[in-house]
Amino acid sequence: MRTLLSRLPPSITALLLQVAAFSLTLLSVRLFALQPAPLFFALLCGLLAASFSHLAGLARWWLFIQLCFAPALVLMLAFDIPPGIFLAAFLIMLVVYWSTFRTQVPLYLSSNKVWRALEAFLPPAAGDSGEVRQPGFRFIDLGSGLGGVLTHLARIRPDGHYTGVESAPLPLLWSWLRIRGLRNCEVHWGSIWDERLEACNLAQYDVVFAYLSPVPMEQLWHKARAEMRPGSVFVSSTFAVPEQLPHQTMEIDDLHHSTLLVWRM
Ligand SMILES: C[S@@+](CC[C@H](N)C(=O)[O-])C[C@H]1O[C@@H](n2cnc3c(N)ncnc32)[C@H](O)[C@@H]1O
Repeated sequence: MRTLLSRLPPSITALLLQVAAFSLTLLSVRLFALQPAPLFFALLCGLLAASFSHLAGLARWWLFIQLCFAPALVLMLAFDIPPGIFLAAFLIMLVVYWSTFRTQVPLYLSSNKVWRALEAFLPPAAGDSGEVRQPGFRFIDLGSGLGGVLTHLARIRPDGHYTGVESAPLPLLWSWLRIRGLRNCEVHWGSIWDERLEACNLAQYDVVFAYLSPVPMEQLWHKARAEMRPGSVFVSSTFAVPEQLPHQTMEIDDLHHSTLLVWRM
């Protein structure tokens, strides 16, 4: 059972366990002809859901969510908030986070210090210490969020071409508005795993940047190894690739204590 659940995204597992906890609590209440107060009923559901989640091996922070979910629902109902507000909140979350429940990669942003540190991994510009410039080098941000990395680099190094791929609609729209006027910048709506999306073929890039989460790193490493050209550079912010030591790391003195992990392919 645990193996079966571990194949599902944690959010789906959590939902299934909530349903199981609710069903079991309801069954027990009926069986013993009890009439608990709604908050007590919800607390029982929460306790059961948290215990099931522990047994299913969900991360510790999920246990807290599972415990509080049903009681929070009951408490919120007491405030008599118009349902339209919940719908609006849901729709906003949907367009910002989109498929995060599946990808397990939410939106959070690189700091300005990371943007600046990334400049060091771009191919040298014409005239830099006698090195020959690679004409029109290409850079991609996989999961480009609000487009901050792209727009910063596109302004600092206009001799490159910058591509972003983003799956969530609102960040995509935001970055699309942000790159208007920058002729060396483009963003695509889609998944970085979509083979039909030409922009996702990593063979065309000199520098590939990703700031995702621990979850997709192994899969991303296989993609990078299969597609990236020798001599190109793969930079992951913060998240390591299992069992692959980076060739270089760069600590960034920002709020998140980011680390850039760099592989030269
Ligand atoms: C941690 S944010 C990084 C944003 C930006 N790259 C930065 O450094 O500021 C990760 C972004 O990747 C997007 N994302 C997650 N999985 C994705 C996928 N499979 N394809 C495209 N974008 C994805 C998320 O929507 C989110 O905006």
